[in-house]
Amino acid sequence: MTVPDAATRKRLFLRTWGCQMNVYDSTRMADVLAPLGYAPVEAPEGADMVILNTCHIREKASEKLFSELGRLREMKREREAAGGGMVLAVAGCVAQAEGAEITRRAPWVDIVLGPQTYHRLPEMVARASRAAGAVIETEMPVEQKFDHLPEQAASQGITAFLTVQEGCDNFCSFCVVPYTRGAEYSRPAAAVVAEARRLVAGGAREITLLGQNVNAYHGEGPGGRAWGLGRLIRELAEIPGLLRLRYTTSHPRDMDDDLVAAHRDIPALMPYLHLPVQSGSDRVLAAMNRGHTAAEFLAVVERLREAQPDLALSSDFIAGHPGETAEDFAQTMALVERVGFALAYSFKYSPRPGTPAAGAPFQVPEAEKDARLQALQTLLRAQQDEFNRSRVGLVAPVLLTGPGRHPGQVAGRSPWLQPVHLAAPLDMVGREVPVRILAAHPNSLSGLLAAAEGAPASLPAEEPAPA
Ligand code: 5AD
Ligand code: SF4
Repeated sequence: MTVPDAATRKRLFLRTWGCQMNVYDSTRMADVLAPLGYAPVEAPEGADMVILNTCHIREKASEKLFSELGRLREMKREREAAGGGMVLAVAGCVAQAEGAEITRRAPWVDIVLGPQTYHRLPEMVARASRAAGAVIETEMPVEQKFDHLPEQAASQGITAFLTVQEGCDNFCSFCVVPYTRGAEYSRPAAAVVAEARRLVAGGAREITLLGQNVNAYHGEGPGGRAWGLGRLIRELAEIPGLLRLRYTTSHPRDMDDDLVAAHRDIPALMPYLHLPVQSGSDRVLAAMNRGHTAAEFLAVVERLREAQPDLALSSDFIAGHPGETAEDFAQTMALVERVGFALAYSFKYSPRPGTPAAGAPFQVPEAEKDARLQALQTLLRAQQDEFNRSRVGLVAPVLLTGPGRHPGQVAGRSPWLQPVHLAAPLDMVGREVPVRILAAHPNSLSGLLAAAEGAPASLPAEEPAPA
């Protein structure tokens, strides 16, 4: 890739909402545009191109988008008045779901592109400069996207994301993903391994494999046979220099024996798993079309904990799905008590237009949803605090990822995903080092390099020189 010089460089501002896959997509959009001379900048002011990478999973996504577009309209006008220009693009799942609405309400938008078409951005930018109206690309042939992305990628740093699977065929009652991201698709194993090697060559020491339903991965392996996620993880763990692997987001139903065994056999696979359960009630799980019962979820958790007793579990919950009674909700609370989560995300049910649950009878009143969410979050918060406190006193391997908040501090990441703050020289960034955990905070841990433990807390003051 030729690096444009300062005179021809164009400023690209990318704003990303939502999940880690959107974060990954944004880095890939920047990669696609780099050969055209676009280099990322930190703010929209003065940008030659602005891309809003949107998320549609929960409430108010489009309101947020339209208020942002209103602000950008002013900036675009100012740039045009000054003889310049700004290409304005809306990407991601809101673009996919509401493309026509966006061009109608915000005709100053130049490009609307869905998550499966960003490999065509260069062509869209060229067309936008010629076209009178907006260029809209919201088809869903996901294979083509991965085939057309550049091999060259900007470094993502010590921790990196890698999309291995995209889309979903599960059609949970509440979820827009099957409509916005399309049918399930797994990238071939060789393409994933090659991208992982490039990320490691660019400095990555930890890679998180991404997919909306990542453990449904069944990419083509060598010889044409499909590989499951467990097999893929075993292969990736062999890459020299790659210290850690994670994957997200998984479905309980797709947790096969080989993947469970990988948690026992592969030291690089971190003892942390995000496994959304959504509800503890069989009635609600059936209404959600989740394809498993609460007992089946608990059985999966047991198999995982047998394989990896140190596993920290995380999950997603929805409070107030249509038809959820007080008794159903009590069963969710009971499931949480039984499992004990290290981390969890919980949401009030919010209807997404076009999904089956949105039109279902027996919507739960808003006040009831609020009360349930609050009770659930109080319990999950207490479990998270308890988990973090249980780490105090342990010596844990911490991957140092960058400078910390204060001078002399570095930030790292524990095996169980908490950020860790400690005093260490910056040139240790990129290494995994033993750290004694000294304190637990709501969302992080702090500690001391275990190697430095024997050293005195401060050096004795120098003897005054004799007069
Ligand atoms: N309402 C509330 N929460 C939702 N999620 C997905 N769709 C909805 C919705 N309509 C939550 C689920 C999912 C997470 C990413 O977002 O818990 O696992
Ligand atoms: Fe959405 Fe996940 Fe259900 Fe797929 S499995 S429909 S991504 S909630």
